Amino acid sequence: MKFRIINTPIQAIPLQKIKISPESAKQFATQVIAWYHHQGRKHLPWQKNKTPYSVWVSEIMLQQTQVATVIPYYQRFMASFPTISSLAKADEDNVLHHWTGLGYYARARNLHKAAQLINSEHNGIFPEDIEQVIALPGIGRSTAGAILSLSLNQHHPILDGNVKRVLARNYLVEGYTGLAKFDKTLWPLSEALTPATDTGFYTQAMMDLGATVCTRSKPTCEICPVRTSCLAMASSQQADFPQKKPKKKIPEKNTIMVIPRITTVTSDSVLMEKRPPTGIWGGLWCFYEVTDKSEITSLLQSLGLKASTKHGSHQELRTFRHTFSHFHLDISPIIIDCTQVKAGVLSQINSQEIREPRKQKWYDLRSEANVGLAASTKKLIGLLQK
Ligand code: ADE
Repeated sequence: MKFRIINTPIQAIPLQKIKISPESAKQFATQVIAWYHHQGRKHLPWQKNKTPYSVWVSEIMLQQTQVATVIPYYQRFMASFPTISSLAKADEDNVLHHWTGLGYYARARNLHKAAQLINSEHNGIFPEDIEQVIALPGIGRSTAGAILSLSLNQHHPILDGNVKRVLARNYLVEGYTGLAKFDKTLWPLSEALTPATDTGFYTQAMMDLGATVCTRSKPTCEICPVRTSCLAMASSQQADFPQKKPKKKIPEKNTIMVIPRITTVTSDSVLMEKRPPTGIWGGLWCFYEVTDKSEITSLLQSLGLKASTKHGSHQELRTFRHTFSHFHLDISPIIIDCTQVKAGVLSQINSQEIREPRKQKWYDLRSEANVGLAASTKKLIGLLQK
Protein backbone atom coordinates (compact mmCIF):
# COMPACT_ATOMS: atom_id res chain seq x y z
CA MET A 1 0.00 0.00 0.00
CA LYS A 2 1.25 3.46 -0.89
CA PHE A 3 1.15 6.37 1.53
CA ARG A 4 0.67 9.83 0.32
CA ILE A 5 2.53 12.46 2.27
CA ILE A 6 0.34 15.45 2.83
CA ASN A 7 2.32 18.51 3.68
CA THR A 8 0.40 20.70 6.04
CA PRO A 9 1.21 24.39 5.74
CA ILE A 10 3.64 25.59 8.34
CA GLN A 11 2.82 28.96 9.82
CA ALA A 12 4.83 31.80 8.38
CA ILE A 13 7.23 33.18 10.88
CA PRO A 14 6.07 36.50 12.31
CA LEU A 15 8.29 39.32 11.21
CA GLN A 16 11.47 39.90 13.19
CA LYS A 17 11.20 36.69 15.20
CA ILE A 18 13.71 34.52 13.36
CA LYS A 19 16.67 33.21 15.30
CA ILE A 20 19.57 31.40 13.67
CA SER A 21 22.19 29.50 15.62
CA PRO A 22 25.84 29.93 14.51
CA GLU A 23 25.89 26.18 13.70
CA SER A 24 22.91 26.30 11.37
CA ALA A 25 24.25 29.47 9.74
CA LYS A 26 27.56 27.75 9.12
CA GLN A 27 25.85 24.70 7.69
CA PHE A 28 23.73 26.83 5.36
CA ALA A 29 26.76 28.76 4.04
CA THR A 30 28.85 25.60 3.65
CA GLN A 31 26.13 23.90 1.60
CA VAL A 32 25.61 26.94 -0.59
CA ILE A 33 29.34 27.43 -1.26
CA ALA A 34 29.90 23.72 -2.00
CA TRP A 35 27.04 23.88 -4.51
CA TYR A 36 28.59 26.99 -6.08
CA HIS A 37 31.89 25.19 -6.72
CA HIS A 38 30.01 22.52 -8.68
CA GLN A 39 27.09 24.35 -10.23
CA GLY A 40 27.59 28.10 -9.92
CA ARG A 41 28.38 30.51 -12.76
CA LYS A 42 32.08 31.21 -13.07
CA HIS A 43 32.58 32.39 -16.64
CA LEU A 44 30.45 35.48 -16.93
CA PRO A 45 32.39 38.38 -18.51
CA TRP A 46 32.48 40.36 -15.27
CA GLN A 47 33.97 37.39 -13.41
CA LYS A 48 37.20 37.62 -15.40
CA ASN A 49 39.92 39.91 -13.99
CA LYS A 50 37.49 41.20 -11.38
CA THR A 51 38.00 44.71 -10.05
CA PRO A 52 35.66 46.83 -7.97
CA TYR A 53 35.05 48.90 -11.12
CA SER A 54 34.12 45.97 -13.37
CA VAL A 55 31.93 44.41 -10.68
CA TRP A 56 30.29 47.77 -10.01
CA VAL A 57 29.40 48.27 -13.70
CA SER A 58 28.01 44.73 -13.95
CA GLU A 59 25.99 45.00 -10.73
CA ILE A 60 24.37 48.24 -11.88
CA MET A 61 23.51 46.75 -15.28
CA LEU A 62 22.15 43.58 -13.65
CA GLN A 63 19.66 45.53 -11.54
CA GLN A 64 16.28 44.92 -13.19
CA THR A 65 17.96 43.26 -16.22
CA GLN A 66 18.70 39.60 -17.06
CA VAL A 67 22.24 38.28 -17.40
CA ALA A 68 21.81 37.34 -21.09
CA THR A 69 20.67 40.86 -21.97
CA VAL A 70 23.44 42.49 -19.97
CA ILE A 71 26.42 40.59 -21.47
CA PRO A 72 26.77 42.50 -24.79
CA TYR A 73 26.04 45.83 -23.12
CA TYR A 74 28.68 45.12 -20.48
CA GLN A 75 31.27 44.18 -23.09
CA ARG A 76 30.67 47.31 -25.18
CA PHE A 77 30.69 49.52 -22.09
CA MET A 78 33.98 48.15 -20.76
CA ALA A 79 35.60 48.36 -24.20
CA SER A 80 34.68 52.05 -24.43
CA PHE A 81 35.23 52.95 -20.76
CA PRO A 82 37.89 50.56 -19.45
CA THR A 83 38.70 52.63 -16.36
CA ILE A 84 36.89 54.83 -13.86
CA SER A 85 38.69 57.91 -15.18
CA SER A 86 37.77 57.14 -18.80
CA LEU A 87 34.13 56.92 -17.69
CA ALA A 88 34.40 60.12 -15.66
CA LYS A 89 35.78 62.01 -18.66
CA ALA A 90 33.24 60.63 -21.14
CA ASP A 91 30.49 62.74 -22.61
CA GLU A 92 27.09 62.03 -20.99
CA ASP A 93 25.51 61.45 -24.42
CA ASN A 94 28.10 58.78 -25.12
CA VAL A 95 27.48 57.04 -21.75
CA LEU A 96 23.74 57.06 -22.37
CA HIS A 97 24.32 55.77 -25.90
CA HIS A 98 25.91 52.67 -24.34
CA TRP A 99 22.76 52.24 -22.24
CA THR A 100 20.25 52.57 -25.09
CA GLY A 101 17.75 49.72 -24.75
CA LEU A 102 18.70 48.74 -21.18
CA GLY A 103 16.15 51.08 -19.60
CA TYR A 104 16.21 52.72 -16.17
CA TYR A 105 18.60 55.38 -17.46
CA ALA A 106 19.09 56.95 -14.02
CA ARG A 107 21.43 53.99 -13.48
CA ALA A 108 23.72 55.24 -16.26
CA ARG A 109 23.56 58.86 -15.16
CA ASN A 110 24.43 57.86 -11.58
CA LEU A 111 27.28 55.62 -12.74
CA HIS A 112 28.72 58.54 -14.70
CA LYS A 113 28.26 60.98 -11.79
CA ALA A 114 29.79 58.49 -9.32
CA ALA A 115 32.84 57.98 -11.57
CA GLN A 116 33.37 61.74 -11.58
CA LEU A 117 33.08 61.81 -7.76
CA ILE A 118 35.56 58.94 -7.42
CA ASN A 119 37.95 60.91 -9.62
CA SER A 120 37.59 64.11 -7.64
CA GLU A 121 37.26 62.73 -4.11
CA HIS A 122 39.03 59.37 -4.10
CA ASN A 123 41.93 60.00 -6.51
CA GLY A 124 40.24 57.88 -9.15
CA ILE A 125 40.35 54.74 -6.97
CA PHE A 126 37.13 52.92 -6.10
CA PRO A 127 36.68 53.31 -2.31
CA GLU A 128 37.08 50.16 -0.23
CA ASP A 129 35.14 51.41 2.78
CA ILE A 130 31.49 50.37 2.56
CA GLU A 131 30.16 53.65 3.97
CA GLN A 132 32.05 55.57 1.29
CA VAL A 133 30.70 53.21 -1.37
CA ILE A 134 27.10 53.66 -0.16
CA ALA A 135 27.63 57.44 -0.28
CA LEU A 136 28.12 57.27 -4.07
CA PRO A 137 25.05 57.98 -6.24
CA GLY A 138 23.11 54.91 -7.32
CA ILE A 139 24.71 52.46 -4.89
CA GLY A 140 22.60 51.10 -2.03
CA ARG A 141 23.61 48.81 0.81
CA SER A 142 23.11 45.58 -1.10
CA THR A 143 24.96 46.71 -4.23
CA ALA A 144 27.83 48.05 -2.10
CA GLY A 145 28.01 44.70 -0.27
CA ALA A 146 27.99 42.82 -3.57
CA ILE A 147 30.76 44.95 -5.11
CA LEU A 148 33.06 44.69 -2.09
CA SER A 149 32.45 41.00 -1.42
CA LEU A 150 32.65 39.87 -5.05
CA SER A 151 35.72 41.92 -5.98
CA LEU A 152 37.65 42.13 -2.68
CA ASN A 153 36.14 39.28 -0.66
CA GLN A 154 35.12 41.72 2.06
CA HIS A 155 32.64 40.46 4.63
CA HIS A 156 29.29 42.15 3.86
CA PRO A 157 25.80 40.73 3.42
CA ILE A 158 23.67 41.46 0.36
CA LEU A 159 19.93 41.48 -0.12
CA ASP A 160 18.95 41.57 -3.76
CA GLY A 161 15.78 40.06 -5.23
CA ASN A 162 17.32 36.60 -5.62
CA VAL A 163 18.58 36.47 -2.05
CA LYS A 164 15.25 37.71 -0.74
CA ARG A 165 13.47 34.85 -2.49
CA VAL A 166 15.87 32.17 -1.21
CA LEU A 167 15.68 33.43 2.37
CA ALA A 168 11.93 34.11 2.38
CA ARG A 169 11.33 30.51 1.28
CA ASN A 170 13.91 28.90 3.48
CA TYR A 171 12.69 30.66 6.60
CA LEU A 172 9.10 31.22 5.51
CA VAL A 173 9.31 34.95 5.99
CA GLU A 174 6.05 36.67 5.23
CA GLY A 175 5.91 39.80 3.10
CA TYR A 176 7.08 40.89 -0.32
CA THR A 177 9.69 43.07 -1.95
CA GLY A 178 8.79 46.68 -1.44
CA LEU A 179 7.38 46.12 2.05
CA ALA A 180 9.76 47.81 4.51
CA LYS A 181 9.15 45.21 7.23
CA PHE A 182 10.15 42.43 4.83
CA ASP A 183 13.60 43.91 4.28
CA LYS A 184 13.86 44.70 7.99
CA THR A 185 13.47 41.01 8.79
CA LEU A 186 15.65 39.75 5.95
CA TRP A 187 18.70 41.97 6.50
CA PRO A 188 19.61 40.49 9.92
CA LEU A 189 18.95 37.05 8.45
CA SER A 190 21.30 37.68 5.54
CA GLU A 191 23.85 39.14 7.96
CA ALA A 192 23.68 36.09 10.24
CA LEU A 193 24.13 33.67 7.33
CA THR A 194 26.92 35.44 5.42
CA PRO A 195 30.22 33.76 6.30
CA ALA A 196 33.30 35.78 7.23
CA THR A 197 35.48 33.67 4.95
CA ASP A 198 34.78 32.97 1.28
CA THR A 199 32.23 35.79 1.35
CA GLY A 200 32.72 36.44 -2.37
CA PHE A 201 31.91 32.83 -3.25
CA TYR A 202 28.91 32.89 -0.91
CA THR A 203 27.56 36.13 -2.45
CA GLN A 204 27.87 34.79 -6.00
CA ALA A 205 26.42 31.45 -4.89
CA MET A 206 23.29 33.05 -3.41
CA MET A 207 22.74 35.11 -6.55
CA ASP A 208 23.15 32.04 -8.74
CA LEU A 209 20.97 29.87 -6.52
CA GLY A 210 18.16 32.43 -6.73
CA ALA A 211 18.60 32.89 -10.48
CA THR A 212 18.91 29.24 -11.51
CA VAL A 213 17.37 26.96 -8.83
CA CYS A 214 15.16 28.92 -6.45
CA THR A 215 13.42 30.62 -9.36
CA ARG A 216 10.23 32.64 -9.05
CA SER A 217 8.16 29.96 -10.74
CA LYS A 218 8.86 26.23 -10.91
CA PRO A 219 11.90 26.14 -8.61
CA THR A 220 13.98 22.98 -8.98
CA CYS A 221 13.94 22.13 -5.28
CA GLU A 222 15.16 18.57 -5.86
CA ILE A 223 18.64 19.89 -6.75
CA CYS A 224 18.76 22.66 -4.17
CA PRO A 225 21.70 22.51 -1.73
CA VAL A 226 19.57 23.83 1.15
CA ARG A 227 16.43 21.77 0.49
CA THR A 228 16.70 19.97 3.84
CA SER A 229 16.34 23.20 5.79
CA CYS A 230 13.78 24.88 3.50
CA LEU A 231 10.51 25.44 5.34
CA ALA A 232 8.65 26.38 2.14
CA MET A 233 9.63 23.09 0.53
CA ALA A 234 8.70 21.11 3.66
CA SER A 235 5.22 22.57 3.51
CA SER A 236 4.87 22.84 -0.30
CA GLN A 237 4.51 26.59 -0.08
CA GLN A 238 7.26 27.58 -2.53
CA ALA A 239 4.74 29.29 -4.79
CA ASP A 240 3.44 31.41 -1.92
CA PHE A 241 6.78 32.80 -0.76
CA PRO A 242 7.75 35.55 -1.14
CA GLN A 243 4.15 36.68 -1.08
CA LYS A 244 2.79 38.50 -4.12
CA LYS A 245 2.93 42.23 -4.02
CA PRO A 246 -0.64 43.57 -4.20
CA LYS A 247 -1.06 44.87 -7.76
CA LYS A 248 -1.94 48.51 -8.01
CA LYS A 249 -3.57 49.79 -11.13
CA ILE A 250 -1.36 52.29 -12.87
CA PRO A 251 -2.80 55.20 -14.85
CA GLU A 252 -2.92 55.33 -18.64
CA LYS A 253 -1.66 58.43 -20.43
CA ASN A 254 -1.26 59.20 -24.09
CA THR A 255 0.88 61.42 -26.25
CA ILE A 256 1.43 62.29 -29.89
CA MET A 257 5.05 62.10 -31.03
CA VAL A 258 5.84 64.43 -33.90
CA ILE A 259 8.66 63.32 -36.18
CA PRO A 260 9.72 66.07 -38.57
CA ARG A 261 11.66 64.45 -41.42
CA ILE A 262 13.76 66.02 -44.15
CA THR A 263 14.95 63.78 -46.95
CA THR A 264 17.53 65.01 -49.44
CA VAL A 265 19.78 63.22 -51.90
CA THR A 266 22.52 62.93 -49.30
CA SER A 267 20.64 62.51 -46.01
CA ASP A 268 17.43 61.35 -44.40
CA SER A 269 17.07 63.08 -41.05
CA VAL A 270 14.55 63.42 -38.27
CA LEU A 271 14.47 66.15 -35.67
CA MET A 272 14.86 65.29 -31.99
CA GLU A 273 15.30 67.09 -28.72
CA LYS A 274 17.31 66.16 -25.63
CA ARG A 275 15.13 65.72 -22.55
CA PRO A 276 15.99 67.57 -19.33
CA PRO A 277 18.22 65.59 -16.92
CA THR A 278 15.42 64.56 -14.56
CA GLY A 279 12.04 62.97 -15.16
CA ILE A 280 11.16 60.30 -17.69
CA TRP A 281 13.77 59.70 -20.38
CA GLY A 282 16.04 62.16 -18.54
CA GLY A 283 19.02 63.17 -20.68
CA LEU A 284 17.87 61.03 -23.61
CA TRP A 285 17.04 62.09 -27.15
CA CYS A 286 13.32 61.91 -27.99
CA PHE A 287 10.86 63.15 -30.56
CA TYR A 288 8.69 66.18 -29.92
CA GLU A 289 5.42 65.67 -28.11
CA VAL A 290 2.04 67.36 -28.40
CA THR A 291 -1.20 66.50 -26.67
CA ASP A 292 -3.45 67.29 -29.63
CA LYS A 293 -2.96 67.22 -33.41
CA SER A 294 -4.11 70.83 -33.63
CA GLU A 295 -0.82 71.87 -32.00
CA ILE A 296 1.34 70.38 -34.76
CA THR A 297 1.28 73.34 -37.14
CA SER A 298 2.42 75.79 -34.49
CA LEU A 299 5.08 73.36 -33.28
CA LEU A 300 6.50 73.09 -36.79
CA GLN A 301 6.31 76.84 -37.18
CA SER A 302 8.22 77.36 -33.97
CA LEU A 303 10.84 74.94 -35.26
CA GLY A 304 11.24 76.92 -38.47
CA LEU A 305 9.73 74.08 -40.47
CA LYS A 306 6.91 73.74 -42.91
CA ALA A 307 5.08 70.54 -43.76
CA SER A 308 5.54 69.56 -47.36
CA THR A 309 2.41 70.06 -49.41
CA LYS A 310 2.77 66.87 -51.36
CA HIS A 311 0.23 64.10 -50.86
CA GLY A 312 1.08 61.74 -48.02
CA SER A 313 3.40 64.12 -46.18
CA HIS A 314 1.70 63.26 -42.88
CA GLN A 315 2.07 59.61 -42.03
CA GLU A 316 0.42 58.34 -38.86
CA LEU A 317 1.90 55.17 -37.42
CA ARG A 318 0.03 52.74 -35.26
CA THR A 319 -0.27 53.69 -31.57
CA PHE A 320 1.90 51.58 -29.29
CA ARG A 321 2.19 51.30 -25.53
CA HIS A 322 5.26 51.87 -23.41
CA THR A 323 4.86 50.96 -19.76
CA PHE A 324 6.86 52.72 -17.06
CA SER A 325 6.88 51.53 -13.46
CA HIS A 326 4.18 54.04 -12.57
CA PHE A 327 2.10 54.58 -15.73
CA HIS A 328 1.28 53.31 -19.21
CA LEU A 329 2.01 55.67 -22.05
CA ASP A 330 0.17 55.19 -25.36
CA ILE A 331 2.32 56.77 -28.05
CA SER A 332 0.83 57.84 -31.40
CA PRO A 333 3.65 58.73 -33.79
CA ILE A 334 3.20 61.00 -36.77
CA ILE A 335 5.91 61.48 -39.37
CA ILE A 336 5.81 64.77 -41.22
CA ASP A 337 7.85 65.41 -44.35
CA CYS A 338 9.13 68.93 -43.98
CA THR A 339 11.14 71.63 -45.55
CA GLN A 340 13.27 74.02 -43.60
CA VAL A 341 11.81 77.48 -43.98
CA LYS A 342 14.62 79.46 -42.46
CA ALA A 343 18.16 78.25 -42.16
CA GLY A 344 19.53 78.42 -38.64
CA VAL A 345 16.17 79.16 -37.11
CA LEU A 346 16.45 76.15 -34.79
CA SER A 347 19.00 77.79 -32.56
CA GLN A 348 16.66 80.74 -32.01
CA ILE A 349 13.57 78.77 -31.20
CA ASN A 350 14.55 77.62 -27.80
CA SER A 351 15.26 81.09 -26.56
CA GLN A 352 11.67 82.02 -27.42
CA GLU A 353 10.27 79.22 -25.35
CA ILE A 354 9.24 79.58 -21.76
CA ARG A 355 10.63 76.20 -20.73
CA GLU A 356 14.36 75.57 -20.31
CA PRO A 357 16.10 75.50 -23.67
CA ARG A 358 16.59 71.96 -24.94
CA LYS A 359 19.27 70.78 -27.32
CA GLN A 360 18.07 69.72 -30.75
CA LYS A 361 19.56 67.42 -33.29
CA TRP A 362 18.85 66.30 -36.84
CA TYR A 363 19.40 62.57 -36.52
CA ASP A 364 20.52 61.02 -39.78
CA LEU A 365 18.72 57.71 -40.18
CA ARG A 366 21.55 56.42 -42.37
CA SER A 367 24.28 56.74 -39.73
CA GLU A 368 23.98 55.95 -36.04
CA ALA A 369 24.83 58.82 -33.69
CA ASN A 370 26.59 58.36 -30.36
CA VAL A 371 23.68 59.44 -28.20
CA GLY A 372 21.29 57.81 -25.73
CA LEU A 373 17.88 57.08 -27.15
CA ALA A 374 14.75 56.25 -25.20
CA ALA A 375 13.48 52.74 -26.04
CA SER A 376 10.45 54.18 -27.86
CA THR A 377 12.68 56.53 -29.90
CA LYS A 378 14.90 53.63 -30.88
CA LYS A 379 11.87 51.59 -31.88
CA LEU A 380 10.57 54.41 -34.07
CA ILE A 381 13.98 54.92 -35.67
CA GLY A 382 14.03 51.20 -36.47
CA LEU A 383 10.65 51.57 -38.22
CA LEU A 384 11.81 54.64 -40.14
CA GLN A 385 14.95 52.89 -41.32
CA LYS A 386 12.95 50.09 -42.93
N1 ADE B 1 22.69 39.38 -10.71
C1 ADE B 1 23.20 40.38 -9.97
N2 ADE B 1 24.51 40.23 -9.78
C2 ADE B 1 24.88 39.10 -10.44
C3 ADE B 1 26.10 38.43 -10.65
N3 ADE B 1 27.22 38.89 -10.10
N4 ADE B 1 26.09 37.31 -11.36
C4 ADE B 1 24.94 36.87 -11.89
N5 ADE B 1 23.77 37.44 -11.73
C5 ADE B 1 23.72 38.56 -11.02
